[in-house]
Amino acid sequence: MTTAPALLPATARVYVAGHRGLVGSAVARHLAAEGHEVITRTRAELDLREPGPTARMLRDTRPDVLVLAAAKVGGIMANSTYPVEFLEDNLRIQLSVLAGAHAADVDRLLFLGSSCIYPKHADQPIREDALLTGALEPTNEPYALAKIAGIGQVRSYRRQYGRRWISAMPTNLYGPGDNFDPETSHVLPGLLRRFHEAVAAGSEEVLLWGSGTPRREFLHSDDLARACVALLRAYDGPDPVNVGCGEDVTIAELAALVAEVTGFTGRVVWDTSRPDGTPRKLLDVGRLRKLGFEPSVALADGVRDTYRWWLGHKDS
Ligand SMILES: NC(=O)c1ccc[n+]([C@@H]2O[C@H](COP(=O)([O-])OP(=O)(O)OC[C@H]3O[C@@H](n4cnc5c(N)ncnc54)[C@H](OP(=O)(O)O)[C@@H]3O)[C@@H](O)[C@H]2O)c1
Repeated sequence: MTTAPALLPATARVYVAGHRGLVGSAVARHLAAEGHEVITRTRAELDLREPGPTARMLRDTRPDVLVLAAAKVGGIMANSTYPVEFLEDNLRIQLSVLAGAHAADVDRLLFLGSSCIYPKHADQPIREDALLTGALEPTNEPYALAKIAGIGQVRSYRRQYGRRWISAMPTNLYGPGDNFDPETSHVLPGLLRRFHEAVAAGSEEVLLWGSGTPRREFLHSDDLARACVALLRAYDGPDPVNVGCGEDVTIAELAALVAEVTGFTGRVVWDTSRPDGTPRKLLDVGRLRKLGFEPSVALADGVRDTYRWWLGHKDS
């Protein structure tokens, strides 16, 4: 009797695409700590939107496993301002990386999508089978469409070529290495920066977008990385797997936590003329839990740790 090869052999060489990003850096760190050889290329060395160079690099390096954590990523403002790039850069990266991986015979691949692939008004907590059951949140629809296409690619390579490729859909992530750029950051680093600057300037008020009422879930990048490794080790199915912590907070509660961590004691004012985005986004993480994964970083600890990291890196 022949047995299928292990899903993540201990000796597997893994190419982490996007290793300088929040997700890629955490995944690369965790894989290296487990003894894997991690292959990386900076964007300057390889623009993953380019199919020829990407296919050549994969053919030359022949990784056993590929984690696709390279993407054009950003918050509401960046998504609203650059919808063409959010759609086309992501489609192009996915097309060249997945086609190149297939040509180089990469049998195991993890594609990272995002919880924004689910319909704006999906039942909460959101199960994986909510995919393609309703209209998307308009502010990040182009990005979500690209990511949905990626799930379709993974499923198609599985069906047509028997590839053992999988997709993970993380909730909002944060952690050391996060993007603190005021133009493109996500909500949590954006808040840390706003409150930090308010304290430094001696301001008594911080004005924030929206009403503060939307509920969001946040997962530390170290927990995400552990979940990715758990999935690579144990999951082999066509459906995406949600990756979250199973709990959410209002943006106002998050702002209060960030105020405490940064030492801001003034007032928070909400600019309700600005969009809130999806009212609630909590993932159903039952499928991931069945694989034995539990998050380990509490939000307050993670926010403190991320703030400390930024204080040490913001001027470098
Ligand atoms: N952050 C979140 O809250 C979150 C939540 C859910 C899902 N995700 C998913 O996780 C994945 C990674 O997100 P992230 O937060 O780690 O993003 P990130 O911090 O912005 O990192 C993205 C990485 O991709 C690289 N990259 C972008 N375009 C490239 C190109 N054309 N060629 C080569 N490299 C390119 C970037 O390179 P440079 O360093 O040179 O810019 C960067 O290293 C994405 O698929 C995203 O959808 C993230």
